[in-house]
Amino acid sequence: MRFDVFTLFPNMFVGPLGESILARAQKAGLIECAIHNIRDYALDKHRTTDDIPYGGGGGMVMKVEPIVRAVREVVPDYRDPDVTVVLLSPQGQLFTQRLAKVLSRKRRIALICGRYEGVDERVSMLLGAQEISIGDYVLSGGELAAMVIIEAVSRLVPGVLGDPTATFEDSHVSGLLEYPHYTRPREFEGLAVPEVLLSGNHAEIARWRREQSLRRTFLRRPDLLDRAALSDSDRAYLRKLRQELDTFQEQE
Ligand code: ADE
Repeated sequence: MRFDVFTLFPNMFVGPLGESILARAQKAGLIECAIHNIRDYALDKHRTTDDIPYGGGGGMVMKVEPIVRAVREVVPDYRDPDVTVVLLSPQGQLFTQRLAKVLSRKRRIALICGRYEGVDERVSMLLGAQEISIGDYVLSGGELAAMVIIEAVSRLVPGVLGDPTATFEDSHVSGLLEYPHYTRPREFEGLAVPEVLLSGNHAEIARWRREQSLRRTFLRRPDLLDRAALSDSDRAYLRKLRQELDTFQEQE
């Protein structure tokens, strides 16, 4: 998997790409990340990358020519079906684990980081870019959002994580939130590790974890349950939970 990032602030990527799993994955040749400064593709004397908006209003808009030139030069195959051009923007499609999975099957991803008030609309049109938002809040630019996408997608590239079962149990991968984790000590400040985890009974542990996963999702993110793959026993457990909650509310 190759990532090409287009930004006015290349140094922002040095830390996140230089540490931990992403650094290791690059060294192992599993992913490749190239950071390109959009300013290098602005050809006027002042290397202008932004301008005032047509129609007036405050702020500046990122110009179309340097961005389109940069992407076409660096990613000449940008129209190939196994290449995706992403424009990070708060107006984009919401980034989810499902979208991360779709992107992880691509050969190459170009990520364009917007700044200022926005990016000239013709960038998306000319490059066939997919606009993606990482959440319903506004950042000062797309750089942090691009890093989020690189990290979430890279984890899904085979070999990037040492333990291939690690992503399988992650929150959101199964459509549910993950169960709680514990490690030593067995008791801390009066809080004991749940007895079942010490039992060595793998079937019981698996059942407890599944129920905790369902319980957390039900209490914290009930919206996820509509799309999660649930078994009959999952549904029975959720019915029991709902009844418990109803009884509890009646008592209040
Ligand atoms: N740029 C500014 N805000 C953003 C967001 N929420 N997601 C992606 N890019 C952005």
